Amino acid sequence: MAKVFAHMRLIAGALALAFIVATAMPAAAQQPNSVNPAGAVVKEQQLLDQLKKIEGRGTIPDTKSYVIEHPAGRDWREFRTVTLRWIGGIAILGALAVLIIFYLVRGMVKIESGRSGRNIVRFNMFERFVHWMTATCFIILAISGLNITFGRPLFVSAFGSEAFTTWSEWARYAHHYLSFPFTIGVIIIFLMWIAGNIPNRVDIEWLKHGGGIVGHDHPPAYRFNAGQKAIYWIVVLGGGAVAVSGYVLMFPFYGTDISTMESAQVVHAVVAVLFIAVMLGHIYIGTIGMEGAFEAMGEGTVDVNWAKEHHSLWLEEENARVGPNESKRQPMATPAE
Ligand code: HEM
Repeated sequence: MAKVFAHMRLIAGALALAFIVATAMPAAAQQPNSVNPAGAVVKEQQLLDQLKKIEGRGTIPDTKSYVIEHPAGRDWREFRTVTLRWIGGIAILGALAVLIIFYLVRGMVKIESGRSGRNIVRFNMFERFVHWMTATCFIILAISGLNITFGRPLFVSAFGSEAFTTWSEWARYAHHYLSFPFTIGVIIIFLMWIAGNIPNRVDIEWLKHGGGIVGHDHPPAYRFNAGQKAIYWIVVLGGGAVAVSGYVLMFPFYGTDISTMESAQVVHAVVAVLFIAVMLGHIYIGTIGMEGAFEAMGEGTVDVNWAKEHHSLWLEEENARVGPNESKRQPMATPAE
């Protein structure tokens, strides 16, 4: 009997010990999946595979926010943080490199016959105002947009996250508000210069001669040559594309869903970085790339010899319209009495 009691005491002691050990074990040991990161990933992947998304529950009315992850979102994030940065970096830095090399090899395109000292009106006040308004908006939109694409990896470590946040907030305001004058500018540019920008046969000859920029020819051109026509259409179509996709981003979920938003961001960002790369070429040729070009948009006039070399057919048209010695010609400077 005493032996039986001894056995029972032993069993009871063992059970008590087992109970104490079991209750003292951390919760994790009882539910290995809840803390095992590998386990969680497996579950997440299973959810994604089976349901094609991970969805939770929420209390705010916007039920779209309950979707935590969907496969297309992962692809988009990869595009946004990796692919886009490569496309943008290659396009913009590549364009800069090409322009620098071109400048070193070719140098500035000079007025080969020298300045005549007589000017002809090329762009009136309204045209110049619209050009500079659109160009200023474009530059600020480009800087503030690139800040969204590249700002975090470039600036946070250099300036700290607080300064980056403050700057980004201002940049975002600028991006949103300047989109309106930019869009108006693109629409006016489209209407104001369409007549001179329809491609024609002269453009083919101009292109065959490298536009007089690659070589030293002076192929004839009307008011706008093939290069300028290309810029015009890039501004109109590229500007139209960034405007439409930009407003889709600015007013989210008005007739759009998450995948339309992702597509709009891809279109907006890719068109924008290519647009910036092309505009670098335009800025180059309008400044250090060609003698006498900046005056056209600066003061609104160009030297007659510049017009003869770069837009001979336009000069002939102007001569036929107002006569070679009409008031559209202005002396370069008032001669000293
Ligand atoms: C009507 C014109 C435009 C509108 C409505 C617009 C709108 C927007 C919006 C709403 C965003 C998202 C920014 C945010 O999170 O708040 C954005 C991003 C961006 N925009 Fe624009 N934008 C316009 C023109 C431009 C132009 C002309 C450029 C380039 C020259 C540009 C370049 C960019 C870039 C690079 C991004 C960042 C893309 C990214 O990394 O996600 N945008 N834009």
